[in-house]
Amino acid sequence: MKQRAKPIWLLGIILLLVACSPDTERESIKPEKGPPSPKEEEPIRIGFSMDTLLEERWLKDRDLFKEAVEALGAEVEIFAANGDDALQISQAERLIQSGVDVLVIVPHNAEATAAIVHKAHLAGIQVIAYDRLVKNSDLDLYVSFDNEQVGEMQAKAITELVPKGNYVIIGGAITDNNAHLLKKGVFKVLRPYIENGDINIIYDQWTKDWTPVNANANMEEALRTTNLQIDAVIAANDATAGGVIEALEAKGLAGQIPVAGQDADLAGVQRIVKGTQTMTVYKPIHMLSEEVAKLAVSMAKGENINAGQKVKNGKIEVPSVLLTPIPVNKSNLNTTVITDGFHSEEEVYQE
Ligand code: BGC
Repeated sequence: MKQRAKPIWLLGIILLLVACSPDTERESIKPEKGPPSPKEEEPIRIGFSMDTLLEERWLKDRDLFKEAVEALGAEVEIFAANGDDALQISQAERLIQSGVDVLVIVPHNAEATAAIVHKAHLAGIQVIAYDRLVKNSDLDLYVSFDNEQVGEMQAKAITELVPKGNYVIIGGAITDNNAHLLKKGVFKVLRPYIENGDINIIYDQWTKDWTPVNANANMEEALRTTNLQIDAVIAANDATAGGVIEALEAKGLAGQIPVAGQDADLAGVQRIVKGTQTMTVYKPIHMLSEEVAKLAVSMAKGENINAGQKVKNGKIEVPSVLLTPIPVNKSNLNTTVITDGFHSEEEVYQE
């Protein structure tokens, strides 16, 4: 069968017309370029490298931070190293390699984690220290509660009850800068009492990894070496206060010797209700997690960060945001921890 000849001359004319038409018209037949629509944009990704999830407060931090980041339309990837420095570094490396936009870190070890800041910076990623400072590094931002003030609040509450006597200090982990800040605050208040001879520090020890079991061993040692001659105890947090109170219970002294803690852990506030712990310091975690989420997302967008304070970390003055803690005892438990929904009334007052 004879094929029909193609009208090649017609195709030639069309191509010529297209080639000669003005640029604007030519653009209109190309696929649209321009900026991608919001739907096509990759969401901001925040990496969250945590020391541990083995304590009540950090579970709250994890959940509230995730919620706050997601409420801002960003994503968060979370790792917890449970007190292992090498693991925290390798987990942070994974986050860096995965290309997070900003890295947020709760350091287990204030010094060792400087390596993480360095590695993140080599990859062009900024780093925020969450609750605990990273020392000797070019840290970009530090957001926490005023930890020195926490120590002052503890010591003020206890000296009001025991202005004279033998004091035991059960510190936090020596590897955590917050433990040092707390002690600084405690001694700021105690110093005049110590200098005029009213207060004797008869035992003062750090607690490895802040664990109740290590605090319990320290308190047993304090009781043994002082022959039970103890009038007051300042414990660095509610976990360590728990270990202290167990040791006092074993000697029949719980409820007779004032004990301070911090965190408003459920067990801590229950002990306050029971009368075996005197006070705690409440730090509304939602404020911290929301602040860090907001600042991390702003940083990822390249916006200017408004951090009013500066904290020295041994290398630089780190732009910082320090939130205000709240001392809590039996008299204001309801109007603070319970009103805020940090714990429910049923949980706190359960038998
Ligand atoms: C935090 C405390 C916490 C402690 C142990 C500190 O850095 O500020 O709130 O109890 O670590 O995890």
